[in-house]
Amino acid sequence: MRKVIAAHLRRRGYAIVEAADAVSAKRQFQSHDVDLVLTDLKMPDSEEDGLEVLRYVVGRAPRGLPSIPVLVLTAHGTADKAIEALSQGAYNLISKPCNMEELLTQVDNAIRQREEAMETFVNPNATTGRFGIIGMTDRMKTLFDTIERVADSPSTVLITGESGTGKELVARAIHGLSGRSHRALVDINCAAIPEQLLESELFGHAKGAFTGAVKAKPGKLELADGGTLFLDEVGELKPALQVKLLRCLQEQQFVRVGGTSTIHVDTRVIACTNRNLLDDVRAGRFREDLYYRLNVVPIRLPPLRDRAQDIPLLVDFFISKYNRKLNKAVAGVDPTLLEALERYPWPGNIRELENVMERMILFSESTILGVRHLPTELLAGLKDVESVRAKGADVGAVEWTREAVESGSSPSLPHHIPLKRLVREKTAKLERDLIVRTLNETGWNVTRTAERLGLSRKGLQLKMKELDIRKSGG
Ligand SMILES: Nc1ncnc2c1ncn2[C@@H]1O[C@H](COP(=O)(O)OP(=O)(O)OP(=O)(O)O)[C@@H](O)[C@H]1O
Ligand SMILES: [Mg+2]
Repeated sequence: MRKVIAAHLRRRGYAIVEAADAVSAKRQFQSHDVDLVLTDLKMPDSEEDGLEVLRYVVGRAPRGLPSIPVLVLTAHGTADKAIEALSQGAYNLISKPCNMEELLTQVDNAIRQREEAMETFVNPNATTGRFGIIGMTDRMKTLFDTIERVADSPSTVLITGESGTGKELVARAIHGLSGRSHRALVDINCAAIPEQLLESELFGHAKGAFTGAVKAKPGKLELADGGTLFLDEVGELKPALQVKLLRCLQEQQFVRVGGTSTIHVDTRVIACTNRNLLDDVRAGRFREDLYYRLNVVPIRLPPLRDRAQDIPLLVDFFISKYNRKLNKAVAGVDPTLLEALERYPWPGNIRELENVMERMILFSESTILGVRHLPTELLAGLKDVESVRAKGADVGAVEWTREAVESGSSPSLPHHIPLKRLVREKTAKLERDLIVRTLNETGWNVTRTAERLGLSRKGLQLKMKELDIRKSGG
């Protein structure tokens, strides 16, 4: 199997070093400049297994830098070890027998993600940001100081901010800079998991704890032992779980659902929310004692409209990111577009900006982006679009309509709108429709479709894979 996978990866253009067991894998790892490790869990004739390889690779990541991604092949009957692999920092699992397409996609993604992350990590004096977080306004500099100061303390951190302001990014930076970075950052989204499941996801369960609990299972708190637990959307926790979590945070111990023995963990908790938790406390929806227990180190992320001076940096950052990802050669934005972007209130914050940039870059046929490249919904919010269009790159012409501004600055965005998903789905649908339409028009000729859309062939193929566009499926 190793030879077959290696052959596929070589055909894809990767240079491959093979190793038959863990000892030789570690030796190879030392003598080569490796970008990714793919390992099986079980190894023949060896005391050491894939987990040992994983620990070795993750343990050698320089502090504060993302580790070299490790993909772990798993077979039936190795579920426990596979879970352990994830908790030890594996990038992802691939089940055997493996689907070669899926494996190649995983490999491509893992390598690309790390490259992206590295870019902003390598240069501590970077003039664009730190720890993979772009921004140079005073508020962002204060944020970088805070991240550095709290990284190594065991204190609980509560990150608040509107949707898309970078809460998860900050949590990852704190973990990466901490002494816990060689262990996993385990995340759990309290809003995405049904209430009945959440308790056992968090605390684990004993065998027979409830129908379907055929085996004992560790919870996320245990998986994050020695590492960090990222409690996303903590404001969604129901009262009963709030009590249990509080007790666990105070005593660093808990009991699995249906279990009897006490489990001790050394888990650092970083919680985040886009709600105003104090309001929830006042309204009796969130326990005050838990609030103060979580809020030991508060970090408030500003909405993007309050740091519009960072927008040019972010725009450049996303241009180079998506040039690479989509194989494009966009050089920049014209002054009118930049002004429009700086004045827009960004209700979806950086995520929205990132999506808008990606779409403009994907569909652009020119090297300099202008207002006319804005997605239609945004264009509709521009006052006097025609005159802006006519004046072209004339700064000072840009104004957003009152509705656009109000929808952006309104603080009453309901918290339960999964904005991340919404924006992603909307964008994906738009892209998909356009690509499929063009493919149909060209009789599914990829080269011609790519030309028409101003994409490289490879860029289009990547997009098609990402959006799961296949001829049969239409
Ligand atoms: N300062 C930043 N520099 C670069 N990219 C950023 C920055 N802030 C956020 N991003 C990017 O924006 C997207 C959203 O960030 P993230 O997921 O951290 O937001 P969030 O606050 O957790 O949002 P939500 O509340 O919706 O979960 C990500 O793709 C992230 O990489
Ligand atoms: Mg988030």
